Amino acid sequence: MTPLLHVAHLRMVFDGLVAVDDASFDISAGQIKALIGPNGAGKTTLLNVISGLLTPTSGQVALADKPIHGLPPHRVAALGIARTFQNVELFPAMTVLEHVMVGRHLRSRSGFFAAALRLPGMRREERQIHLDAERYLAQVGLSAHADDLARDLPFGKQRLLEIARALATEPKLLLLDEAASGLSTREKKELVNLIFAIRDIGVTIFLIDHDMDLVMSISDEVVVLDHGEKIAEGTPHAVQNDDRVIAAYLGEEPVHA
Ligand SMILES: Nc1ncnc2c1ncn2[C@@H]1O[C@H](COP(=O)(O)OP(=O)(O)O)[C@@H](O)[C@H]1O
Ligand SMILES: [Mg+2]
Repeated sequence: MTPLLHVAHLRMVFDGLVAVDDASFDISAGQIKALIGPNGAGKTTLLNVISGLLTPTSGQVALADKPIHGLPPHRVAALGIARTFQNVELFPAMTVLEHVMVGRHLRSRSGFFAAALRLPGMRREERQIHLDAERYLAQVGLSAHADDLARDLPFGKQRLLEIARALATEPKLLLLDEAASGLSTREKKELVNLIFAIRDIGVTIFLIDHDMDLVMSISDEVVVLDHGEKIAEGTPHAVQNDDRVIAAYLGEEPVHA
C-alpha cells in the first residue's frame, strides 16, 4: 500500500553543514510515528522540509504519491500537512479564536482576504468558520479562552492553541515539533490523550519529542536521526535496544523530560 508520506534520500545542506543526510522513511496512514535524536540531529530541519519551509538540497517527499518537496508551505498545507513549532509561533495580539479561524480559512472557498474585507456574500461563510473554529477549540479544551489574547495564555495552553490551529486546516498528517516540551506532568498526560484522540479521528501523526517515556508509550514506530543520518527505525522496543541508538545518546545529557 502507498504510504501516506514517503521521504526518499532527503538531504538538506546549509552553507556546507549537512543537517539532513540521505534520510529515507515512510509514514503509514493512521500511525503515530516519532522522530527522535540528540540536539542538532536535524529533526526540526526535516519537519521544515516536509512542511515546505525549506526546499531540500536533494531528495524527494511525496504525500500519497504526489511529490511535494519544493512546494511553498501554503500549498503543502492545502494538500493536507499541518504542523506546530518547537518555539510556539503565535500572533501575540490576536485572540485564541482568531488564530483558529485563520487556520480554518484554508478550507473556505473565499479565502482569508475576501473574508477579512467582508466582501458581500462572505458573511454566512464567516459565520460557519466561526462555528468551526469554536469546535476545534473545544477539541483541545480551550473554549473558555476563546476571546483571550494568545499572548495571555499560559505556555501549555499556547501549545494547545497551535494544535487547534493546525487541526482547523483538516490535515491528513500532523507534524508536532516538541509539543510536550515545557509542559507539566499533568499537561503531558492531557497532551497524550489529545494525540490519541486526534489519531482516532483519522489524522496521522509524526512527532518529535525528547521525553522518551512519552515517545515510547505512544508511538507505533520511531525514526532515529543522528548528525542528519537515519541510524534506526522500528518499533519503540527495537530502537531502544539498538546499539547505534544507545551510542548516539551516550555522552548526551540524560534525555531530558
Ligand atoms: N536555517 C538554518 N540555517 C543554517 N543552519 C541551520 C538552519 N536550521 C538548522 N540549522 C543547523 O542544522 C543542524 C540541525 O538543526 P535542527 O534541525 O534544528 O536539529 P534538531 O531539531 O534535531 O535539534 C544544526 O547544526 C543547526 O544549527
Ligand atoms: Mg528541533
